[in-house]
Parts: sequence; structure tokens; C-alpha cells
Amino acid sequence: MRFSFLLPLAIAPLALAAPEPAPVPNPVAAPAPDSTGLLSELPTILSGVQSLLSQDTISKLETIIDGAAKLLSSDNIVVLQDILGNAHTLLTKEFVDNTTTLIGDATPLVEDVSKLLGGVLGSL
Ligand SMILES: *[C@@H]1O[C@H](CO)[C@@H](O)[C@H](O)[C@H]1NC(C)=O
Repeated sequence: MRFSFLLPLAIAPLALAAPEPAPVPNPVAAPAPDSTGLLSELPTILSGVQSLLSQDTISKLETIIDGAAKLLSSDNIVVLQDILGNAHTLLTKEFVDNTTTLIGDATPLVEDVSKLLGGVLGSL
């Protein structure tokens, strides 16, 4: 056996030529892209949406949308435009300021009347 030491050298190229074993699939799942913030809220949001989309809610929404569609007839749109126009005219800065002042002035009066009534009722 003078050349037995050559045997490993002789088969080494065969071992190198042997096909690689098939890669074992990584049993560990890739990490979730983001488990914080909005993504973590998603299940809650989806279940909320799901309960919103119950048959009952959908029926109610149909009623509302139906009603809104009827409200938005061309006649009513003119009326609504009038109302919104008037409200818009009413809600000038001066009106809001005056109303705020009025409410501010009325508040102590209401408090006084409330105390007065409380006193009167308490004495009965
Ligand atoms: C605001 O109040 C002033 C002073 O009381 C008054 O002259 C004015 O007409 C008021 N304006 C509105 C829009 O209410």
C-alpha cells in the first residue's frame, strides 16, 4: 500500500463535483416588516370595519344615503344654499365677537340667578 495516501487526493475532485445538497428551507419565518404603530393596530381597525359593515349597519347606511339623496333634490339644494349663505353672512367676525361677548356677559348673570334661586329654594 505504498500509494494509499493518494486515495483521498484521488477522490477529492469527485467530492467537489458532487451536487450541493438542496438548501434546507429556513424554518424561521422572515420577521414582520413592522410590528409597531399602525400595522399593529390593523387587526383592531379591521375588526372595527368588519363590525361597521354588518348587515344592520349597511341597511342603516342605505337609509341614510337614500334620505340624503332625497334631501339633495334641486329644490332643497337651493334652500340649503340659502341657509348656508345666510349662516355665512351671519357668521361675520363681528357677530361672533359680539356673541362671544354676550355669552361672556350673560355667564355671571346666569350664575347669580342660579345662586339666587338656590338661596330662595334653600329657604323654602
Ligand atoms: C356688534 O356690537 C356692536 C356694539 O354693541 C353693534 O354696534 C354692532 O351692530 C354689533 N354687530 C353685530 C353684527 O351684531
